[in-house]
Amino acid sequence: MDVTNETKEEQKKLWNNLAGRAWVEAQESLDRLFKPFEDLLVESVGANSRRLVLDVGCGTGSTTLAVARVLGAKGRCVGIDISEPMIAAAQARAEHERNPARFICADAQIYNFDSASVDMIMSRFGVMFFDDPVAAFANLRRAARDEAELRLITWRSAVENPFMTTAERAAAPLLPNLPVRRADGPGQFAFADAQRVSNILSDSGWTEIVLAPIDVACTFPEKQLIRYFTQLGPVGRILQESDDGTRAQIVEAVRPAFDSYVRGADVEFTAACWIVSARAGSA
Ligand SMILES: C[S@@+](CC[C@H](N)C(=O)[O-])C[C@H]1O[C@@H](n2cnc3c(N)ncnc32)[C@H](O)[C@@H]1O
Repeated sequence: MDVTNETKEEQKKLWNNLAGRAWVEAQESLDRLFKPFEDLLVESVGANSRRLVLDVGCGTGSTTLAVARVLGAKGRCVGIDISEPMIAAAQARAEHERNPARFICADAQIYNFDSASVDMIMSRFGVMFFDDPVAAFANLRRAARDEAELRLITWRSAVENPFMTTAERAAAPLLPNLPVRRADGPGQFAFADAQRVSNILSDSGWTEIVLAPIDVACTFPEKQLIRYFTQLGPVGRILQESDDGTRAQIVEAVRPAFDSYVRGADVEFTAACWIVSARAGSA
């Protein structure tokens, strides 16, 4: 996961280079790992008919495709993401399965959406990277019809998600250039503080804001663990550009730090997240 607080250009660069490439390579594993969150979003779309659902920070498109399948001919699902390689992967998946989902490669904070056109906006871990979240959610509000629903899945704090920082804690003594996580800038944990999220949404024209905590059991095969921490997150990004010696040293230091999460052939951890719901207030 991607976590440091960086400027908009840095986020764009990150998701179009190291982080984007890593997510494309790990797409199948990540989609399997985060399937419970996809199911939650699909469930919330399923009950009512929607003409247009927008998936923000859709990445390689799993949630967009899943919602488009549920909507069928009744509606459309459009994914937007700032990352060219991730959108290219999403488009290829849509073509492969003849899924009608559409994808836009653009910054959702400033993209010129058709105003009052969207019935529901959703995201799985795709809205924590805006450099100006109030501007971004005001832009999304303009895209939404009055009364449109917002349904976001975001991470709670790093403290409540110790699995997510295991690699960097273990690698820190060996990697002095490891970026430090900050809670108040763009990054994985930017939506950890419920009051901050409420303020962002109410300042950008959303009402009926509710943050419900969810603790979701996640699992993936232990044989993918080394690949997981050498590919993804801040340690993974540094290792993508490191020599074999450094990589071997880091693997040796980091792998034992995950021991408490290994159960037989699997890695198990709890993802402490929010389901954020809101409604587009009258303009
Ligand atoms: C953690 S990934 C989640 C991807 C996807 N939602 C999923 O669950 O697989 C975060 C995504 O947000 C995208 N993103 C970051 N900043 C963005 C922005 N300003 N506009 C649109 N997408 C953005 C990234 O490119 C990345 O694909």
